[in-house]
Amino acid sequence: MSAFGLKAMKAALLRRALAEYTYLKQEYGEHGYLEATYQHLFLRELETYGLRDRYTPIQSAANYSLLFVVLTSVVGAQPANVLELGCGETTLLLNALLQSGVWRGSLVSLEQDSFWRKEIASAVSTEVVYAPLAERSIAGRPALAYDLSNLKRPLGLFDLVLVDGPTGVPRYSRSACLEFIPKHLAKDFLIILDDYERPGEKETAGLLRQALEANGVAFSEEIFLSNKHQLMLATDKYRPCLYPRHRNGDQVKETVASLRSEHVH
Ligand SMILES: C[S@@+](CC[C@H](N)C(=O)[O-])C[C@H]1O[C@@H](n2cnc3c(N)ncnc32)[C@H](O)[C@@H]1O
Repeated sequence: MSAFGLKAMKAALLRRALAEYTYLKQEYGEHGYLEATYQHLFLRELETYGLRDRYTPIQSAANYSLLFVVLTSVVGAQPANVLELGCGETTLLLNALLQSGVWRGSLVSLEQDSFWRKEIASAVSTEVVYAPLAERSIAGRPALAYDLSNLKRPLGLFDLVLVDGPTGVPRYSRSACLEFIPKHLAKDFLIILDDYERPGEKETAGLLRQALEANGVAFSEEIFLSNKHQLMLATDKYRPCLYPRHRNGDQVKETVASLRSEHVH
């Protein structure tokens, strides 16, 4: 090979390595700097709805980007029935939305930890079910699933499924959600999968997509990047949730007033 050919080959290899690095940085890199933006947006939306900031998004709790997408999705799209895997700050938020009348719907939360279930259940009036983990086979692999024997009634169909539990594992993390998706999904739905930056959650997201596609369900997706990432899958009805925007104050006041008056009567 000529000296010129060698130089061109080195340049091509360098360009490919740079492209790969840029892709990996985007996919797995540090986006924690965006958390302050999400905190600002979450607090701004809370204020718009006249709600107080009572949240402690630290340790394994929801981060601000999750709280923000849950708040804007639920108030904007008004899902009738929500299933939450793993309770905590998001449960407190959904309960506050119900209590204040800015969301009309119902919530069932499943929680694997009896201490944590009690803590959260004592702070909300929604249903928080103690569902200890049981080993089962999910999608042909041994997995940790929720034991549903404490449910008071069979689960129905859910418009929003928030997957933030059980505790993450390295491979096919939180594949317990596949026992509810698509079986317990309403025709139109939104799925929020937290911790999507982790390889195990990415594997589970692959299984979720396969399961939905096998059922002939069409959906769109979007990822929210911050110190933790959220993957959202939505049918057309819930697609606006993938692009949250701040609505003007008068519009919001009108919506909130009408939701609250319907709530009271
Ligand atoms: C990622 S957390 C669930 C977070 C929940 N959706 C929230 O918004 O905080 C997964 C599990 O961690 C446990 N957990 C969450 N926050 C906790 C805390 N502050 N102290 C102890 N356990 C916690 C619970 O068992 C929960 O199901």
